[in-house]
Amino acid sequence: MFVSSVKVYKFRNLADQQVALSSGAVFITGLNGNGKTNLLEAIYLLTGSRSFRTNSSAELYHFGDRECSVFGTVTHALGTEELGVIFTPGERAAYLNGNRLDSITELLGRLRAVAFSPSDLQLVKGAPAGRRKFLDRHMVDLQPGFLKILMGYQRALANKSAILKQQGTGYQQLLPWNELLAEYGGKIVDNRRNFIESLMDKATFFHQQYAPTDGELSLELESDLVKDGMSADDAIRSELEQAAPREMALRSPLVGPHRDDLKITIGGVDCRAYASQGQTRSVVLSLKLGVIEMIEGVTGEAPVVLLDDVDSELDAGRSERLFAALLSKPRQLIVTGTAAPQGQLGQTPGLQVIRVERGLVAQS
Ligand SMILES: Nc1ncnc2c1ncn2[C@@H]1O[C@H](COP(=O)(O)OP(=O)(O)O)[C@@H](O)[C@H]1O
Ligand SMILES: [Mg+2]
Repeated sequence: MFVSSVKVYKFRNLADQQVALSSGAVFITGLNGNGKTNLLEAIYLLTGSRSFRTNSSAELYHFGDRECSVFGTVTHALGTEELGVIFTPGERAAYLNGNRLDSITELLGRLRAVAFSPSDLQLVKGAPAGRRKFLDRHMVDLQPGFLKILMGYQRALANKSAILKQQGTGYQQLLPWNELLAEYGGKIVDNRRNFIESLMDKATFFHQQYAPTDGELSLELESDLVKDGMSADDAIRSELEQAAPREMALRSPLVGPHRDDLKITIGGVDCRAYASQGQTRSVVLSLKLGVIEMIEGVTGEAPVVLLDDVDSELDAGRSERLFAALLSKPRQLIVTGTAAPQGQLGQTPGLQVIRVERGLVAQS
């Protein structure tokens, strides 16, 4: 699948304009601060997901404005569609072929894109929340319906948090929320475990290529909610019951998949604590390439791959291997960088080069 054009309006520093994109390799160049990442972000937002840079729509409006939009033309196996999102305070309105959709969730799955930016390198050694977000985002890429489960869980958790904050909350008041948390939470744990298992399958292959002398990459859901001989929802029910007195004393929800983590090891050594910079890079690249393969395997179509400024963070060897993997199949690959495209990417036949200058795109 590919995005053949993207039209931005009041979006960050970009001038209102429409940009035509090739279905193969695209290189977006320009000096720092001119709008390369902004353009990449705009393309990504056509997926219907939150930005890979921010959760806040307010950051997307051109300074001083209170709305912005991105529209684009996407071609996939089933045809060509016009997708769009209009951001206003408190709302993300999605459009399909000129018609407003009931919910932005209906946009999911029409354009699948995987973004990779230098901040993804935080994934390995950063806080657990980043790894949960990585899992959840890509699980939604694969299976848009999973978002409803995540949202249901978050709603129940927010309600339970509010009740715990009130004076004199009794156990009875927690029960309906605990039941919802067990139902949604059980699905989250099961889905995450399945996802991690399939991802490990793919990622170990790439990791072997990146770091043949390192030990084997292994991924595991780290959770108190995985118990032998017990379904995940029952495990959550039992943990919630045990934790109730502590939760009421501390007035905070202490149990559930919102506390889980993705444990990443190389040769049995925990990467969160011990991975070197080089090992971290190899692991993150392997995970991302693994995700791309999974999406291809499940949907039968190559997702659009967006690489932001990777050359600033990757050494030549890792960068070449990344492009070798990505360019080995026909796909739309959109890359930003300040220097001219190097190596394999630079030699890609039909490479489209786009220059962004102070928010304005010039195509050559
Ligand atoms: N909401 C916004 N409104 C106007 N300008 C913005 C907004 N958000 C970011 N910018 C500006 O966009 C520029 C950065 O664009 P970016 O795409 O990150 O640059 P780069 O080409 O280095 O990737 C900065 O000058 C920043 O001030
Ligand atoms: Mg940038």
